[in-house]
Amino acid sequence: MNYPFWDIPYLGSGWVIGIIAIFHVMISQFAVGGGLYLPLAERKAMREGRTDWHDQLVSYSKFFLILTGVFGTVSGVGIWFAIGLTQPEATSTLIHNFVFGWAIEWVFFMVELITAAVYYYTWNRIDAKLHLTVGWVYAGASVATLVIINGILTFMLTPGDTWLGVAGTGQEASKFWNAFFNPTYWPSLLLRACVCCSLAGIWALISASRINGDKQPALKASMVKWSVKWLVPSVVAMPFLMIWYYMMVPTSQQALLTLGIDTINAGTFSAVTRMALIIIITSATIVGVAYYLAYRNPVDFNLSHAIAILLLALMATGAGEYSREMLRKPYVIGNWMYSNGVRVPSANRIDREGYLTHSNWTWSADRNGPGSSYSRGEAIFRGECGSCHTLDGYRPLRQLLSGRDRSSIGNFITMLHEHKADSPYSRFMPPMVGTQQDINDLTDYLNYKVNPPAPGAQKTTLTAQK
Ligand code: HEC
Repeated sequence: MNYPFWDIPYLGSGWVIGIIAIFHVMISQFAVGGGLYLPLAERKAMREGRTDWHDQLVSYSKFFLILTGVFGTVSGVGIWFAIGLTQPEATSTLIHNFVFGWAIEWVFFMVELITAAVYYYTWNRIDAKLHLTVGWVYAGASVATLVIINGILTFMLTPGDTWLGVAGTGQEASKFWNAFFNPTYWPSLLLRACVCCSLAGIWALISASRINGDKQPALKASMVKWSVKWLVPSVVAMPFLMIWYYMMVPTSQQALLTLGIDTINAGTFSAVTRMALIIIITSATIVGVAYYLAYRNPVDFNLSHAIAILLLALMATGAGEYSREMLRKPYVIGNWMYSNGVRVPSANRIDREGYLTHSNWTWSADRNGPGSSYSRGEAIFRGECGSCHTLDGYRPLRQLLSGRDRSSIGNFITMLHEHKADSPYSRFMPPMVGTQQDINDLTDYLNYKVNPPAPGAQKTTLTAQK
């Protein structure tokens, strides 16, 4: 491991990214969808001469500016901090490959932020046509941010054979376009585009639900109905796009989903499957609620209905992002880097030279001797297992290993080390890399945690070590 490990007890550092990312995705995809919604609604209001729509859009664009401009940007920067600390190795690879793409992404962020503010502050102050143009510039810039980030996100799941062919040679950047337009690029882009439209409709429903239906029934009915229509692309296209996406994922990754389906009764390893079911169930409920409560009874549609839809959308988004992450296991960059930052081709070298040999910030006694097997094992546990497991909390190793004695723990780790292709664990866990001593140290450490020595015994070991 080339970087220190960021230890988040109980939760695990991966969830720090996850929690920030789910909110960020909700808001940023709304920023894209809402960016299209606003100018389209404004154009409709202009063409039909509806001043009531106009006034409603002014207040909606304020909400839009605050939500995307404050929470969208802060959570976006938060992701940068979180991935840099949690996955430094992978973040470094992404930056080296996509630095230019990312730079352009930031340019579009700037355009987005500026035009969103200008759009809100210039209602009724500049020529109506010019105002609409500002809206379109915003829409263009925000679609561009999706077009770019999608290339980088999908790259992590499916870098593609061309890029993998040059990975590690120093020529990676020469395959920028292959890496960018990788196998899952298009299905993922269209999927996200559908989600963006849905989120635009859902957030607009929140705003429309607050219109007083007794005073302005016509406005409320037309706004609610028009907003529900934004859910239609998802309803029609999402199932097909998901299948397309799934077909572009490597077979080894597809297996993670089918493994879950095959064992659905036993419930083994079915995290991806469970999440896929949540997506389907929540999406279907959203459609039902939107149709019956909003489309059919727009005037009675109230804020709690709208919030119910929003919460369901949050669940669906969370489940979607979670299963995308799970689908990538055991890699952070498909077939190139494991989730714990070990590059696939480095595994053999680490097996020969030892895992801690080049970890310059670990205790030098652990690297060069005579460190204790406990502290060496702890460093190995953090580096190799800590990106997916905690001791107590999320995927807790103390619990997952409970009931095993030292030799059984040792056998398990040896099995992870051998990483045979037919082992089900090899589908979602990377090999445990290192020398025989590393295996022993990790076993000692985990055994100490799972089967703590009785207080008296502990004292003797400690004295013996001195
Ligand atoms: C890429 C992420 C990842 C890494 C890295 C990882 N694991 Fe796992 N591990 C998983 C997943 C996913 C499961 C399944 C968890 C579940 O069923 O809840 C699992 C399950 C386990 C189990 C339970 C097995 C069983 O039969 O129930 C053990 C023990 C385990 N891991 C040990 C380790 C050790 C030791 C390391 C470090 C050498 C490690 N894991 C590294 C993802 C990972």
